[in-house]
Amino acid sequence: MEALVRELDQHNYNYYVLSAPTIGDFEYDAKLRELEELERRHPEWANPASPTRRVGSDLTKEFKQVRHRTPMLSLANTYSRDEIGEFHDRVVKEVGDGFSYVCELKFDGTAISLTYENGVLTRAVTRGDGEKGDDVTTNVRTIRAIPLKLFGSGFPASFEIRGEIFMPHSSFNRLNAERDEIGEPPFANPRNAAAGTLKLQNPAIVAQRGLNSFLYDIQGEGLPFVSHYENLERVRKWGFPVSPHMEKCHSIDAIFRFIDQWDTERKKLPFDTDGVVIKVNEYGIRKRLGMTAKAPRWAVAYKFKAEAALTRLRSVDFQVGRTGAVTPVANLDPVPLAGTTVKRASLHNADQIALLDIRVGDRVYVEKGGEIIPKITGVELSERPEESVPLRFIEKCPECGTPLIKIEGEARHYCPNALHCPPQIVGRITHFTSRKAMNIEGLGEETVQLLYDSRLIDDCADLYDLRREQIAGLPRLGEKSAENILTGLENSKNVPFSRVLFALGIRYVGETTAKNLAAHFRSIDALLVATEGELSDTEEVGGIIAKSLVAHFQNRENIAIIDRLRAAGLQFEAREAIGGSNVLSGLSFVISGTFHNHSRDELKDFIELHGGKNLAAVSGNTSYLLAGEKAGDSKLSKAGKLNVPLLSEEEFMKMIAGVEPVPAGEMVDSAEAESVPAPEKPKQTALF
Ligand code: IVH
Repeated sequence: MEALVRELDQHNYNYYVLSAPTIGDFEYDAKLRELEELERRHPEWANPASPTRRVGSDLTKEFKQVRHRTPMLSLANTYSRDEIGEFHDRVVKEVGDGFSYVCELKFDGTAISLTYENGVLTRAVTRGDGEKGDDVTTNVRTIRAIPLKLFGSGFPASFEIRGEIFMPHSSFNRLNAERDEIGEPPFANPRNAAAGTLKLQNPAIVAQRGLNSFLYDIQGEGLPFVSHYENLERVRKWGFPVSPHMEKCHSIDAIFRFIDQWDTERKKLPFDTDGVVIKVNEYGIRKRLGMTAKAPRWAVAYKFKAEAALTRLRSVDFQVGRTGAVTPVANLDPVPLAGTTVKRASLHNADQIALLDIRVGDRVYVEKGGEIIPKITGVELSERPEESVPLRFIEKCPECGTPLIKIEGEARHYCPNALHCPPQIVGRITHFTSRKAMNIEGLGEETVQLLYDSRLIDDCADLYDLRREQIAGLPRLGEKSAENILTGLENSKNVPFSRVLFALGIRYVGETTAKNLAAHFRSIDALLVATEGELSDTEEVGGIIAKSLVAHFQNRENIAIIDRLRAAGLQFEAREAIGGSNVLSGLSFVISGTFHNHSRDELKDFIELHGGKNLAAVSGNTSYLLAGEKAGDSKLSKAGKLNVPLLSEEEFMKMIAGVEPVPAGEMVDSAEAESVPAPEKPKQTALF
């Protein structure tokens, strides 16, 4: 069995790291099955890091949030060569010229942090908001490029290695073809597909999706070298997939040569790259250059201009979104572009259509930026058919027939029938239930649509009138889903006022605005009577937001919804809650199970807020096991053995009660509000 494990690991390495497989898939699978069979017969001899363990089958219910040891930063990026020159000049000015650069490709996937302890993969965490991410270890273990156990020796006892997980074009095309066949919407690009796959709850599906990875940043004590390039070369020997397309450069000219070379050659690569990352090689120099809040000052990304393709515009659809905004979407003759087939593209708005004078039948240029859907950037006028006519923007909502309006100063058309236009209703309710708003499990877009189509809900207040038998009787749902949804709705009654306000979906009132408003006005009653002027006194609330709030609250139907939500028991006042303190300092907690009044994340936040520590596992150092319903058996028994006292939610809340109060809206969800993931759009960030 050990020999098979070693042999299969070697084949993985040959395939993923060296790109030089020495056996075919069939033979590989045969050996894997043989090992599986042996492990089935002799589980006592099974190696926990066996390649068979990659194909997990346990469902992950939710991903644990894990704080990164050091934040996962982003990179300053630019499309301008001049700015690369400026970057170099600045580095030289600050540290002289005794250093080198490493140029790497910028892989277009999703960032991952891997932890290895004694040569074994113990944890894989997504970037998340940079501070904390999702623990996706079970999924990452299925990615064959990632070693479960390292080769060779000389690696630190514990270290972290970061890199990118991506979906090669072949996997992506296969996946979308399969989805097409079963009528599921295709993924827009390999990056989304990779990110989506990593968040799947079933590792067995992840295993089939053909993800791959390149690692590019090792961190920890006791690394073999004090420079990046040398360390990467070494970790390849330990079994890590390190891209062969990297180069040590000693001059700005060498950097530009690397960029030029890959701007062309990237088109032949079997995966997406969207640029080149230029990093200072020596750790000592990096330290001297330091970092800004968001990105290191020793690295910069040069982004390639998006590739364009020419194709024919077949027709235009008009889509109505949650806010009533109408988006024109182009249907195109399918055309290959940057590794995928493009069939649809955004036309943005009426002004853009008029500006480019885009007409059905035209040959148009399509570009793929980092956006979900590609965009049309121009028309090939020389190929315009003679009979073509200017494209007319629709005047009525395609969903409900209401005449569209255009708000002054805005480019978009809106359907003003907010309360009765179907996609707006479903969109608004989905927003209400979403994680950052009321966080009601089991009520995603599909279920909301189903409930709406079944005429059970028309607005978010209707959710709280749902009865078990109404939900359980619907197709695809059942007793269990009904139970989940009702529990989720019940729990949502503890969601703080600021998030309830955000959940209402008032135009322009995002998370931060809702927080500021909640902190300033403290209750819905105060907000309802506030004038535009009073509203604009709130931090970061300007005239447009104030107008939108007043308009929302002047509408009687909106008020009726608020009244019903209030009657259902939702929080419409900022609770006096407990502020930060040191009462838990020196204490460490393990949380297990589910709780009545708070989510596990909220309890963790409380613990940190009061100076305590969260631990993942019960040990001799654990002060308390905070145990809710269905707390894990192993945790309970371990706590019993080690005499770790159990604590109920109520007992815990008593421990932290009675210290200086701060507004609730600012506390419980503050960590989350700050953790809005920075959009990974190709926006041009100024260089420092
Ligand atoms: S280094 C502190 N190297 O780009 C710098 N990042 O915009 C850490 N990325 O979040 C990043 N290829 O997901 C680095 N060769 C490469 C990369 C790379 C892709 C991604 C990474 C990061 C993002 C920053």
